[in-house]
Amino acid sequence: MKVLIAGGAGFIGSTVASCLIDAGHQPVILDNLVTGRREFCEGRPFYEGDIADPAILDRIFDEHPDIESVVHCAALIVVPDSVAHPIHYYRENVAKTLELVDHLIAKGVTRLVFSSSASIYEPNDEFSVDESSALAAQSPYARTKLVVEQMLTDVTAATPLRVLSLRYFNPIGSDPKMRTGLQVPAPSHALGKLIEAHREGVPFNITGVDYPTRDGSGIRDYVHVWDLAGAHLRALEVFDSLFAESNYSVINLGTGTGTTVREFVDAFNEVVDEPVAVAEAPRRPGDQAGAYTRSTRAADLLDWRAEHTVVEGIRDTLTWFSQRDKILG
Ligand SMILES: NC(=O)c1ccc[n+]([C@@H]2O[C@H](COP(=O)([O-])OP(=O)(O)OC[C@H]3O[C@@H](n4cnc5c(N)ncnc54)[C@H](O)[C@@H]3O)[C@@H](O)[C@H]2O)c1
Repeated sequence: MKVLIAGGAGFIGSTVASCLIDAGHQPVILDNLVTGRREFCEGRPFYEGDIADPAILDRIFDEHPDIESVVHCAALIVVPDSVAHPIHYYRENVAKTLELVDHLIAKGVTRLVFSSSASIYEPNDEFSVDESSALAAQSPYARTKLVVEQMLTDVTAATPLRVLSLRYFNPIGSDPKMRTGLQVPAPSHALGKLIEAHREGVPFNITGVDYPTRDGSGIRDYVHVWDLAGAHLRALEVFDSLFAESNYSVINLGTGTGTTVREFVDAFNEVVDEPVAVAEAPRRPGDQAGAYTRSTRAADLLDWRAEHTVVEGIRDTLTWFSQRDKILG
């Protein structure tokens, strides 16, 4: 099958493209390279341009009239940036998605997979969520994802478009074949900070040790990006079976197991030679305890389960960073 991947030069979109190629499918990439990398598109049909540009969408569908489905990963994703520049984030993530979707419907597209985020769930005392849990996005970035989901719910109720929103938890790792990985040299998430602490030989700060979790530190659901990519493949393969009740569907993508920050540090220290020491620090403003998915929907509907462990995700991330500069220059 031929699949248009908007944002296919980014971390997740490029990994989805690799997974589709390995399974014998044909991705077509649309990306404006605002954060994506041209190197990740090598050997793949690639259109450099904006998701809201009608001319480039016309060209893509003229040259690839056999596109069956679209995966929409294109977005700006940095939470503090979204706090500083909300208008830019709403324009790029919300307004441009509306333009894209309008155009896709005009082109006769009926299958769209949307990259959503677990950050739209309301924090709760159980530290776990399923697809029916309350939603309350906590940042402008997360709200752009929530608004797009609501917008797509309305659009699918009135048009032939069907949308599957995949709510990702915390992606780590890289393509196991090292074709792609995180583009940024210094990611701001916990794993990025651990790598930095390890490199500099300084302790890693656990920010927040008084959460009512099993060891007081925050909790996340780290899912290997190659598993995430596999879930997209499954979703595209079984897409038409997902819409018995309405034209809009949602599936959480996580491992189903929470990993606390302390457990994550232990996993990191299993992989590296020189263990990283930890220091305890107070919560930062806006920090949340976090959550994992308790849902079985991905298993039930997609026959998909995360297969890679957190240790594998950390190992693949470290391998990627050891090769990243050679690949990206
Ligand atoms: N990485 C995460 O932790 C995470 C978690 C949950 C959800 N998501 C979602 O997954 C998707 C992909 O995230 P990622 O981590 O791969 O980020 P990324 O920045 O690596 O990828 C986003 C890609 O979209 C492209 N892009 C952005 N705006 C565009 C536009 N207007 N037109 C064309 N291309 C555009 C960028 O150049 C980039 O290649 C995003 O929608 C994000 O919200 C990511």
